Amino acid sequence: MDIKPFEKKIFLSSPTMHGEEMKYIQDAFDKNWVAPLGENVDCFEKEAASFTGSGHGAALASGTAALHLAFRLAGVTAGSKVICQDMTFSATVNPAVYQDAELIFVDSERETWNMDPELLEEALERHPDAKAVVPADLYGTPARLDEMEDICRSRGIPLIEDSAESLGSSLKGRKCGCFGDFGILSFNGNKIITSSGGGMLLSDDESVIKKARFMATQAREAYPWYEHRELGYNYRMSNIVAGIGRGQLLHLAEHVKEKERIYRHYAERFSEIGLPLSMNPYAPEARPNFWLSGILVNKDVCDAADEKEDVSKDYPGMLSGICPSAIVLRIMKTLSEYNVESRPIWKPMHLQPFYNRYEFIGHHGETVNEDIFRRGLCLPSDIKMTEEQQDTVIDIIASCF
Ligand SMILES: Cc1ncc(COP(=O)(O)O)c(C=O)c1O
Repeated sequence: MDIKPFEKKIFLSSPTMHGEEMKYIQDAFDKNWVAPLGENVDCFEKEAASFTGSGHGAALASGTAALHLAFRLAGVTAGSKVICQDMTFSATVNPAVYQDAELIFVDSERETWNMDPELLEEALERHPDAKAVVPADLYGTPARLDEMEDICRSRGIPLIEDSAESLGSSLKGRKCGCFGDFGILSFNGNKIITSSGGGMLLSDDESVIKKARFMATQAREAYPWYEHRELGYNYRMSNIVAGIGRGQLLHLAEHVKEKERIYRHYAERFSEIGLPLSMNPYAPEARPNFWLSGILVNKDVCDAADEKEDVSKDYPGMLSGICPSAIVLRIMKTLSEYNVESRPIWKPMHLQPFYNRYEFIGHHGETVNEDIFRRGLCLPSDIKMTEEQQDTVIDIIASCF
């Protein structure tokens, strides 16, 4: 193959700045609001909450901090049961462990790669005393949030939507982040828009958001001196960071459009070439933000590759022996030789050495998440990648089969 490695790395998803961010930063400097409060923080909260159709937002230091406060506000304490999506980034579930909760992991459905609502019902039948349910919208694809909202509401259990990856996505006309009792956003550097790092807790309930802001400011009571009645955190977002977020929010729709273009181009070209793989799926009634394009290599191709080469022996000490297929690792390695970033699908939590002590509720027969983890791969989805560059990435992938 006559392809030279890219001089500049092609990233999975890197920040795309537009210049307007500087206007808000400059304003903070001009007014000397270089602090974890100020006009940018107030406006960013209003703008992001209004975009998602949530009543209120608390701007925080990270999406993880937002999840932590959501768990606390949902009443999760030591020993509380929390029903979590199994295939996700560890940040979805770590804050429940900060609270010493008892996690219960639920397998995904094939149609969205997110928590299966039927298995959620099964989990709640087994654990009707659960204190919270936390599905995620992986790679920008909405979970079946409306169904899960109904399930949780009928049982009076708070639903926390981990929409860290899905700002700009929607399901049946409702924006991600607004489902359930709490939504959380992340503005980490690799997200669809970034503030360099940060997050937001969303809720329709103003009193809950006020309480979150209070907890995020060391739970300092309204006294002339430092009075504390409960545990607090230093979780507020800075006014500079919020300024970047405000500038980025102006370009969210454009970012979503570009991400969708990338996804569709992969889908079209892969099918034209006839590669034995499919794209990460979404429900017909969903409008994803296409944050990351992903592929699932056909099972027979993975089976044949793994029969020839047992890659799991290269990683001793790995729990369960389940790892990405030899063909998936080959694609990753080849892309990396050409200076292109790719990434395996989130390794299911029930396979993680740190988390495998918790209960896992999987599909009977084959576990969907183990299969997706074995056959899936996230592809470069950076909106600064040109179509020509993407075509080269596609040619490199095709050469691996
Ligand atoms: C699914 C998911 N949940 C939570 C987080 C945590 O967000 P943050 O990095 O802002 O803490 C992230 C991203 O990093 C994520 O991808």
